[in-house]
Amino acid sequence: MLKNAVAAAVMAPSSHNTQPWRFRLHDESLELDADRSRSLKVIDAERRQQIQSCGCALYNARVAVRAMGFTDEVTTMLVDGDSPEHLATLRLGAPRITTPEDHTLMQAVALRRTNRRAFLPRPVPPADIEALVAAAAAEGAALVRLDPEHKRALAELVEQADELQFGDPAFRQELARWLIPFGSRRKDGIPFAEKEYGSNLPFTLMRAMRSPSLGEKFGTIEESLIEGSPLVVVLGTGSDDPASWLACGQALEAVLLQATARGLSAAFLNQVLEIPGFRARIRALVPDIAYPHMVLRLGTPAEPIHHPAPRRDLSEVLIESPEGS
Ligand SMILES: Cc1cc2nc3c(=O)[nH]c(=O)nc-3n(C[C@H](O)[C@H](O)[C@H](O)COP(=O)(O)O)c2cc1C
Repeated sequence: MLKNAVAAAVMAPSSHNTQPWRFRLHDESLELDADRSRSLKVIDAERRQQIQSCGCALYNARVAVRAMGFTDEVTTMLVDGDSPEHLATLRLGAPRITTPEDHTLMQAVALRRTNRRAFLPRPVPPADIEALVAAAAAEGAALVRLDPEHKRALAELVEQADELQFGDPAFRQELARWLIPFGSRRKDGIPFAEKEYGSNLPFTLMRAMRSPSLGEKFGTIEESLIEGSPLVVVLGTGSDDPASWLACGQALEAVLLQATARGLSAAFLNQVLEIPGFRARIRALVPDIAYPHMVLRLGTPAEPIHHPAPRRDLSEVLIESPEGS
């Protein structure tokens, strides 16, 4: 039964679609480990996004357990200051009667996709925003909406962050390793066409990634996408350690699934949190959040995803222990 939870877990979003997780299945429990070999050493040196990505996978597994009619019992294995591999153990708890909400969230696990295109100029209803705030709070995180003035300030920061990041050859090299051209058989990485750089042919990808001026072009595109997004939010926690990152990842996926269930899509603007000085500037925009972890824009998608990000097979991420079911 817990194998179904793994199938749900791997549909989670992850930084650069690195899918940095491993699962060990026992008769009555499922262990989640971070896969260090899938770290982004330049972009995510602290492994914050890696552990958040694993948090997203854990949340999906919990949703699956609840939709199968059990309580989700989680033990997290993180200790302050540790640099952990083993992150959490999930067990089937007491049987429970499933609710329509359980099934809606389970459907959203399969439907959710990052959509980096422009959103329709349609406001997000206040009830939907409240549901997103509540979903984050239930997982111990805070979600704060940016007002128009702060949205403009964010758009400028994102543009500057893009220029700085793309000016760094080490960044471009690492990003290029996780962008995949059309026709690739890879089961990880981001389809190049979804990153809005234009053509997705392999040679265009390689040429684009050699150009330091890509940041300027991309920054300008992102700036107008932010300005045109009906909802821009910051998600964060009260502390900044592996346990908070894992909690924040679960909160992120809770928010994304609620958004999906309401017909909304999200795109990430995390470049502003990947450069240390910039994180402090985001913090100044949202004084209620001690540690911002995620910046998202949300809205009603104008177009569906054309090239869905692939996933690795379960056999590549799952070890079934001899007594496993
Ligand atoms: C912690 C985290 C950080 C992310 N940061 C970014 C980002 O800065 N920019 C971006 O375009 N996508 C970002 N993503 C989205 C991933 O690229 C996306 O989840 C992955 O490619 C899989 O695609 P999917 O979400 O459509 O399933 C992030 C996802 C996670 C979980």
